[in-house]
Amino acid sequence: MKIIVTGGTGYIGSHTVVELQQDGHEVVIVDNLANSTINVLDGIQGITGTRPAFEKIDLTDRPATLDFFARHKDARAVIHFAALKAVGESVSKPLEYYYNNLNSLMNVLAGMRGNGIPNLVFSSSCTVYGQADVLPVTERTPRHEAESPYGNTKVMSEDIIRDLMRVEKSMNGIALRYFNPIGAHPSALIGELPVGVPNNLIPYLTQTAAGIREQLSVFGDDYDTPDGSPLRDYIDVVDLAKAHVVAIRRLLEGKNKANYEYFNIGTGRALSVLEIIAAFERATGVKVNYKIVGRRAGDIEKVWADTTLANNELGWRAEVPIEQTLANAWKWQQRLASK
Ligand code: NAD
Ligand code: UD1
Repeated sequence: MKIIVTGGTGYIGSHTVVELQQDGHEVVIVDNLANSTINVLDGIQGITGTRPAFEKIDLTDRPATLDFFARHKDARAVIHFAALKAVGESVSKPLEYYYNNLNSLMNVLAGMRGNGIPNLVFSSSCTVYGQADVLPVTERTPRHEAESPYGNTKVMSEDIIRDLMRVEKSMNGIALRYFNPIGAHPSALIGELPVGVPNNLIPYLTQTAAGIREQLSVFGDDYDTPDGSPLRDYIDVVDLAKAHVVAIRRLLEGKNKANYEYFNIGTGRALSVLEIIAAFERATGVKVNYKIVGRRAGDIEKVWADTTLANNELGWRAEVPIEQTLANAWKWQQRLASK
């Protein structure tokens, strides 16, 4: 089946393209390469043996996007990854984030509706829950007001899709709320490409272990958690990619129970920053130079997923052990350093 993957040369998109191809789908990637490179196609081809079709289009360009969809009417589904995702940058550039993330979504939806492409899987985030009062969070946990323009684009995007699906009964959507995606493909042919100084824990940790950064700062050890550092639900990127394949299958087979559904995609397990460092050291034998510093502004104390719905309805669960995920992240970091 032909599937359109927006943002398919990006981190999660590229891993998902691999899993889609391995499941027998034909993939067309559309990306403007704002945060990825064309070489990612070599990595995908190296893993699957098939080079996906690729078109360089900025999805905020409405005529170009509608023309793209008109040429790919035979696609049966779209996975919409394309978005800007740097939380801190979104605070300083709110207009750019709203413009990019919302216009590209609306153009994609218009392209789907105008050409009879019925099925959408959308990349949402656990950021829509903020600091939830009750943990773990289920899909029924109330969303909190977003803490950043980036987070707000996810809340608003979920609602734009919901409102469209209310009137377009022949269209179907699934929003996957990712927890903290980490790791890389075990082949080390694709992975995350952080630009500049990483903000996220794992790329900062692997760059510190590689000697690119001097020291990892652990942002706070005075939280109300077992070791005082914050708790997150770290999900392996290949497990996450597989969740998209089962979501697509659910839509293509018409097994969805409503024409718009939401699923938490995490492991259901909370790990602290200090536990991640210890697991990395166990998995790789490499010591991490770290120091406890003050809290990072805007960080939440703890969040992890109740994955019962995804387990039962999608028949999906996270499988890769955390040590394996961290070993893959390290292998990818070493490959990047050797390039
Ligand atoms: P990424 O930056 O690696 O990939 C996004 C891709 O979209 C990039 O290749 C970029 O060039 C492309 N893109 C952005 N704007 C575009 C536009 N206007 N037109 C065409 N292409 C455009 O990010 P990722 O980590 O792979 O994230 C994928 C999706 O998952 C995003 O929607 C992100 O918000 C969401 N998400 C990511 C995380 C995470 O931690 N990585 C967590 C929750 C949700
Ligand atoms: C952040 C975003 C979230 C986004 C996710 C993936 C915020 C508030 N949230 O999540 O919306 O979906 O990235 O892009 O920005 N940490 C350190 N030292 C570091 C880096 C991180 O101790 O150098 C800690 C953080 O305090 C946090 C954990 O590691 O407890 C994970 O941080 P990070 O990888 O940045 O992800 P989140 O903050 O959970």
